[in-house]
Amino acid sequence: MFERLEAVVPDPILGLMAAFRADPDPHKVDLGVGVYRDERGDTPVLASVRQAESALIARQSTKTYVAPAGNAGFNQAMAQLVLGAAHPALTADRVRSVQAPGGCGALRLGAELIRAAAPDTVVHVSTPTWANHTPLLAGSGLRLESYPYFDPPTGGVQFDAMTAALERLPAGAVVLLHAACHNPTGADLSQAQWRELLALVKRRRLLPFIDMAYQGLGDGLDADAFGPRLFCAELPEVLCAVSCSKNFGLYRERTGSLHLIGESPRAADAALSQLVRLARGIWSMPPDHGAAIVHGILSDESLRGRWLEEVAAMRRRIQGLRLEVVQQLRDYCPQRDFGFIGGQRGMFSFCGITAAQVRALRERHHVYMTDDSRMNIAGLRRENLEYFARAMAQVLVAAPK
Ligand code: LMR
Repeated sequence: MFERLEAVVPDPILGLMAAFRADPDPHKVDLGVGVYRDERGDTPVLASVRQAESALIARQSTKTYVAPAGNAGFNQAMAQLVLGAAHPALTADRVRSVQAPGGCGALRLGAELIRAAAPDTVVHVSTPTWANHTPLLAGSGLRLESYPYFDPPTGGVQFDAMTAALERLPAGAVVLLHAACHNPTGADLSQAQWRELLALVKRRRLLPFIDMAYQGLGDGLDADAFGPRLFCAELPEVLCAVSCSKNFGLYRERTGSLHLIGESPRAADAALSQLVRLARGIWSMPPDHGAAIVHGILSDESLRGRWLEEVAAMRRRIQGLRLEVVQQLRDYCPQRDFGFIGGQRGMFSFCGITAAQVRALRERHHVYMTDDSRMNIAGLRRENLEYFARAMAQVLVAAPK
């Protein structure tokens, strides 16, 4: 059976993670995989998570199954976190939520639902998009196409080209949108652009599938949810995949949720029954631990307050690093303008150097970023910022284009 299988190249992000771990150089800098790091370079367990986890372990009396849709309290708390407690779609009972193994599980489950409802649907993803969107969504059997998004000269969004492409889509086409902190570019839609996009999506009768993996790490929990809240209030149907990996630091616990906004409570119930059937056929029941922790945090006022402070601290550190790295690059690489990094949001920026220059950074200076020049800003530290800027200056001068 398996003797004819050929080895595949590792996923670009995970391959880089392994290469970084294997590099013995003491100066190595990890700007690869998208995990938050503190000033010491660690990805610590959040204090709010530790407290909720201890309480959970002390009170947990069984490990029996929860349910294919997961922890009902978690699902409800997540819907409120994403949409805001008094959101009109919640009041109208049009939201149904399913716990999933991470944002990845939620994306795959959403794709499977679309495939079950309309197998010929095409999902349109931004150029570029997160490398794993392709296997996750296309793995369900749906076809993927791209729409223009990132504008390298400005480091922003090519909004006119994006809307011109979406304007040509047939009714029922799915548009994958990043809620905030676009991965891999850091270039987000403004509130005015979300509003304009809403009118287009309505007019063309498109289905938005929103990926929300970084709520709170851009401009704030509410500001980062502007697009999803607007779309879910104004449109008959929306899918929103949410990850707790980054804002709760629960990476390995695989904690996420899928939220479906249906046209009516009845339609939403029918869709939920399909989601539960699909989940049962893929992973049967989602892992409980991370979701129980998140529920513990969100349902306890003091723990929630502590978590909000921790998210704000992560966000402030990233925003500060963006300004500091721009300054360092201005000093060491005056020939090139990296000012756009300061205006982008979230953990990532596409710094716009060539794949050969990325390779030179890795091979000569032990600075790791993905070949498309995505850098995880949170991997920088006060003590390696200058080293990074010097390395960048050297490869800009020396490495072949
Ligand atoms: C990333 O983009 O680096 C993260 O979302 C981790 C991953 O699984 O790719």
